[in-house]
Amino acid sequence: TPLPAFPPGFTWGVATSSYQIEGGVDADGRGRSIWDTFAHQPGRIIDGTTGDVACDHYHRYAEDVALMAGLGIGAYRFSIAWPRIQPAGTGPAEPAGLDFYDRLVDALLERDVDPVATLFHWDLPQALEDVGGWLNRDTAHRFADYAELAAGRLGDRVKLWLTLNEPFIHMTLGYGTGEHAPGRTLLFGAVPAAHHQLLGHGLAVAALRARTGSPVGIANNYSPVRPQGTGEADLAAAAAYDALHNRLFTDPLLGRGYPVGLGLDPAEAGAGAADLVRDGDLAVIAAPIDVLGVNYYNPTGIAAPAEPDGPLPFEMVPLTGYPRTAFDWPVVPEGLHELLTTLRDRYGADLPPIQITENGCAYDDTVAADDGCADPERIAYLDGHLRAVHRAVADGVDVRGYFVWSLLDNFEWAEGQTKRFGLVHVDFDSQVRTPKSSYAWYRDLISRR
Ligand code: FCB
Repeated sequence: TPLPAFPPGFTWGVATSSYQIEGGVDADGRGRSIWDTFAHQPGRIIDGTTGDVACDHYHRYAEDVALMAGLGIGAYRFSIAWPRIQPAGTGPAEPAGLDFYDRLVDALLERDVDPVATLFHWDLPQALEDVGGWLNRDTAHRFADYAELAAGRLGDRVKLWLTLNEPFIHMTLGYGTGEHAPGRTLLFGAVPAAHHQLLGHGLAVAALRARTGSPVGIANNYSPVRPQGTGEADLAAAAAYDALHNRLFTDPLLGRGYPVGLGLDPAEAGAGAADLVRDGDLAVIAAPIDVLGVNYYNPTGIAAPAEPDGPLPFEMVPLTGYPRTAFDWPVVPEGLHELLTTLRDRYGADLPPIQITENGCAYDDTVAADDGCADPERIAYLDGHLRAVHRAVADGVDVRGYFVWSLLDNFEWAEGQTKRFGLVHVDFDSQVRTPKSSYAWYRDLISRR
């Protein structure tokens, strides 16, 4: 059956991020980011690739904007590389770096595509990491300065600003387990990176408001938690994981303060916590936002830890009984419906309108001699998830748009070039772009609306 109708004005889009597609790492005065450093360390990236060239979007953006126009999308979510704007993370703007995004934004507007800019999609200037990165409170203030510079140039044309992308993933994989840059392995010692990112978000919201009249929000990653077991310990473990993944970055944004159990709530604050969360911080973090960006890929199975005295109060258990993507992620469209209705139930009138800022899947797509690139699993994945969004809208959740991750196959972080998420296939040797069958499917879906 065809997809049901979405509300009038619903936004159809695609998403990318700077380090994953741009390449051009030495172009026009760009400084080094933590991902340049990390990707060049032996053993960090599964196939030994880096983002040095990636999709070479920095030089091929016009071709990529034409691909977007061919889709008929209403909006494009990209990210701005902080080290292009401030090569060392502080000080005046590098005009040549701003010029690139200026050209991109104008090219989008010429094709009637609304520019949606994310300020931080994980490529922190290396110079800021050298003084502690997001473990250092000062980085929050540096982020607000950068936001002001970006909006000072682009604030008249970017239609939606998103401060941070998935601060939960950046904290856990970047500072907790070390699978992402900057590669630190602090486990719960990573929690200051949560507070400082949130503080940076709040300070950046204020800086953006001073430079643009466009709506402002954040893009969070959510994953409904499925307890694997019915014992009290399993349920407690599931609640602990839920607080970390789904509430740590949303409760304080929406004025609820920090969830208990992470050492950030004043009631449980140990020595040092008071210095971390200072008077006034929670009010800064809770500055009103216009949009909550929701990134969804899959739910998470959680059980009580096998070692009760181990370092983590939960254990991840793979969910079985679902189809799986090439990333081995389970395909669970109803998880998206569940998370949207949970957000509504949890935050009620405090929940701003939602945009699905990322949703998509990796498959081992190949280009056939003359017959393009068929990716029926991706079409099934997107169709299923859009139906889940539609059910949530019918149930009263205010969802205003949907962005497919991603326009292009790209540099998938620690997975390098091995995980293809694009509607468009990219041959990384020749840089030839080949629209997949999901591209035609999405184009037709948009044109019927
Ligand atoms: C999200 C990231 C995005 C991409 C997808 C697959 O967590 O925001 O950059 O890696 O996952």
